Formats: sequence, structure tokens, C-alpha cells
Amino acid sequence: MADTPTIDFAQLPHPAPVPSETREQALADPGFGSLFTDHMVTIRFDADRVERGENGWHDAKLCPREPIPLDPAAAVLHYAQEIFEGMKAYRWDDGTVALFRPEQNARRLNASARRMAMPELPEELFMESIRQLVAKDRAWMPTVEGGSLYLRPFMFATEAFLGVRPAREYLYCLIASPVGSYFKSGVKPVDVWVSRDHTRAAPGGTGAAKAGGNYAASLVPLAEGTKHGCQQTVFLDAIEKKWVEELGGMNLFFVFADGSAVTPPLTGTILPGITRDSLIQMLRDEGLQVREEPYSIDQWHADAQKGDLIETFACGTAAVVTPVGSVNGPDGKFTIGTGGTGQLTQKLRDRLVGVQMGTAPDPHGWVTKL
Ligand code: COI
Repeated sequence: MADTPTIDFAQLPHPAPVPSETREQALADPGFGSLFTDHMVTIRFDADRVERGENGWHDAKLCPREPIPLDPAAAVLHYAQEIFEGMKAYRWDDGTVALFRPEQNARRLNASARRMAMPELPEELFMESIRQLVAKDRAWMPTVEGGSLYLRPFMFATEAFLGVRPAREYLYCLIASPVGSYFKSGVKPVDVWVSRDHTRAAPGGTGAAKAGGNYAASLVPLAEGTKHGCQQTVFLDAIEKKWVEELGGMNLFFVFADGSAVTPPLTGTILPGITRDSLIQMLRDEGLQVREEPYSIDQWHADAQKGDLIETFACGTAAVVTPVGSVNGPDGKFTIGTGGTGQLTQKLRDRLVGVQMGTAPDPHGWVTKL
């Protein structure tokens, strides 16, 4: 049968990996996203092979991380067929290396692939790519508190063809980056800017896919927020421009004084975050009522002013659980609670990190040990 995950990975170790002293120095303060391990995984896809009854996915390699040769006519450079995932490998005190709900990343990558007319990657191939790279570059796992190995699986169209149709050739690639906190300020409340001129996704569009183009579209409003001293930008819905959607790379939760919480529903315009899904479950485990329902920017403002809303936090693989301190926009500013880190936000963050680091119970079986 075509596309069964029975391919072997060629092993091409790096001839000159980063010397251990240089690596250790870099790992002392990894920051986010600018440090990379020695190796990567690549797997090619070719639709012609499928038509011949062979595996479309082939030529799997664990090889040195290096530039990827690409034809200037490659479809991704013109029509942006590109999707990605974000996940982390955690090193526990006893030396265990663990992943958090990796099968959800495999499934979401394939949901994104379907939306962008790209081939699905068999889940077992996805998992094998992670196992191979993490085993090879294990020495790159940061030991600093809060550190992890951020894994970035991605796929893009490589076929050299300028006609507008789904490409027939693709490359799946996995790279790894040792990381600390996503925000330069560490785990402190972030100030957010509400974009009134730009939206991120419209109904029927690609907002639920983890596609590079969605992130490109978020950069101008993000820069507008930065200009106003904010670290993140809040996107409102594209139709009524009143419903809070997400932050472009993070989902949002609102916590109320009555012990309930709200997060915007998955209606196709926001990313179905795996951290979002886990936190809904954790909040319910805490006995809180969680509603997935639309929440307007005006209600957010009014509830914060009345004291009915006491916390707001952003969440995602990179951001983990990050408190929102203030909400800023062309019409002014309002503060969430006291502007600090709310109690529930802190508790959820600690519990989530505890599950990921093997220091808290894992009642839902979310951890996969490698
Ligand atoms: C993640 O949280 O892993 C993301 O993909 C968000 C961002 C870093 C792009």
C-alpha cells in the first residue's frame, strides 16, 4: 500500500558538530529561536511515486543541519504552500526525555496539510522523525530552569512550477532549537495591543491551519503593537470587528471572579492550540466552569473595570501560560486585575510545567517518554 510508514532513515552524522564547550556556553542562556542543534531530519514526497503505487514519502534522512537547495521556481516561494508545528522535548531530573501530547501535533500538521492541499505525513513517520532527532541531538537539551528543546516540524512545496495548483513535490523537515522563555522579559505579564485596522483570519479562510502565511499576515499589526510598547497584538474577528480571537501565535483565556473562565470557540478562524485544549481540561479538573464562547473587546474592558474579570492569560507551546497585564489600543488602556500575575494563571502554569517536567501527576496520560 502507498504511504505506509516503513521507510528507513539514512544516518548522516555531522562531520564537525559544535564543540561541546561552545554548546554548553550557548545553552546557559538559550533565549528563544536563534540557537539550533547540529542535525535535522528531511523526508521527501513525490506524487508521481504514489501514481506508480509506491510510497509517496521517501528519502528520509537524519543529516547535518544545513541550507536546503531550492529551485527559484519552487511553489512555496510563489504560492506559500507551507505549514509547520511547534512542540517541545523536556529533560526530567532523572534523565528521562519527554514529549507533551505529540500525537496531537502530528494530527494538527495533517489538518493543516489538508487545508493547504498538501500531502499528509503518516503519524508514525512524524513520531519517528522526532525520536531520531531528539536521540541524536540530546546533548543540546538545556539544563537551565524552564529550558527545553523546541522542535519545529515543517513542510513545504518544492516542485518547480508556476501554474496555480497543488504542487506535486514536497519536503518535510524537522529542526530543533534549545530554548528558554519566549519573552525577553521572562515569565512576566505582557502588555497587548488591540489591532483595529487589521484582522488575521476570515470565516472560510486558513485561520485554523498552522500555515506560515497566517504568521506573515500578523507581522504588521504586531509591529504596530511594538511601536506602542506592547509585546503582543490581539486580533478581533473579521466580520464584526468586536469578538476577541487570539494573539496570532497564542490563544487567550479570561478568568472571572465567579470562578468561571472563557476562551474563544474554535470556529475555524483561530488556531486549535494543544495547550489551549489541555488548559480547558485542567481548569475543569480544578472544578472551574469553562465556556468556549465569543467574548467581545467591549465586554472585556467593562468586566475588567468592574472587577468581574480578574485574570487574562495567553497560552501556547512557546508561551506556555503567560499573564496579560494590560490591554492597549487607539482608544486607551485598561489593566487586568492588579496588572501582575493572577493566582490561577500561576497555578495553571505551574501544573502544566509540572506535568511536562514529570514533577506533577499526569492523570490524562499526556506525556510520552522517548
Ligand atoms: C508555538 O507556540 O509553538 C508557536 O508555534 C507559536 C509561535 C512561536 C510561532
